[in-house]
Amino acid sequence: MIGVLLLLFLLPFLLYIAAPQIRKMLSSGVCTSTVQLPGKVAVVTGANTGIGKETAKELAQRGARVYLACRDVQKGELVAREIQIMTGNQQVLVRKLDLADTKSIRAFAKGFLAEEKHLHILINNAGVMMCPYSKTADGFEMHIGVNHLGHFLLTHLLLEKLKESAPSRVVNVSSLAHHLGRIHFHNLQGSGVTTYSVHPGTVNSELVRHSYLMRWIWWLFSFFIKTSQQGAQTSLYCALTEGLEVLNGNHFSDCHVAWVSAQARNETVARRLWDVSCDLLGIPVD
Ligand SMILES: *[C@@H]1O[C@H](CO)[C@@H](O)[C@H](O)[C@H]1NC(C)=O
Ligand SMILES: *[C@@H]1O[C@H](CO)[C@@H](O)[C@H](O)[C@H]1NC(C)=O
Repeated sequence: MIGVLLLLFLLPFLLYIAAPQIRKMLSSGVCTSTVQLPGKVAVVTGANTGIGKETAKELAQRGARVYLACRDVQKGELVAREIQIMTGNQQVLVRKLDLADTKSIRAFAKGFLAEEKHLHILINNAGVMMCPYSKTADGFEMHIGVNHLGHFLLTHLLLEKLKESAPSRVVNVSSLAHHLGRIHFHNLQGSGVTTYSVHPGTVNSELVRHSYLMRWIWWLFSFFIKTSQQGAQTSLYCALTEGLEVLNGNHFSDCHVAWVSAQARNETVARRLWDVSCDLLGIPVD
């Protein structure tokens, strides 16, 4: 009994002491590319917090003009200011994008295409997880609507610009739907646009904000899970690493190619998801 109690008291203490070591082990993937991005244009969705913010900051640090595509423009402006001050790069811009509303996605794309000649890096980063059942403005279930369909439409609308700006890259941050949608991107082979999907690891971000239980578990383990900056490494790796084009279409974790489920590699399933997505969004199937 006393032993158990002692252990219960000691355990958090030991964990606390070991935390830096464990965190270091978990953050094995680091983007070591030294590529600089003057003259390059990047769009990061969900960039006002967590991994998206860290990703945007690093791209700005390397000299890119970075668009923070955010639902909450006011929050976005604060983050943009912060990044400008930290990096000395004034070309950090905020544009309104609500991925739960196809009208907003179309408006964002229209505005962007009108004001920018190029798009070299698109980071599909925004995501919702475990939010209460709700629907997007277009009546899609929220997770599918934002994580998959929203980015699917956004990518579709920006694709011509990406092709014109080749070599260019699309990076999808972890969502099962992205893995499923990946295979048919080979339609683009030869276009100079390459695409990667990323599992950022277990990251302390606002993604868990909708679930009390998850928040609690997160808090408990917060010593061990990656910081947002560590979580951004694989996205940056995929966006920046020279010569990564040969791994077009792959899934990455900790800055390495990672295994995906048979389901995710199944051409039939991928094709069906692709067709259904086009159908739901009113995009002509290619
Ligand atoms: C990334 O997402 C876009 C939009 O859904 C999709 O077209 C592309 O195939 C995805 N790429 C990967 C590697 O999953
Ligand atoms: C792909 O999925 C379909 C439908 O679920 C299934 O019938 C088929 O056997 C799968 N193919 C492979 C190669 O796993």
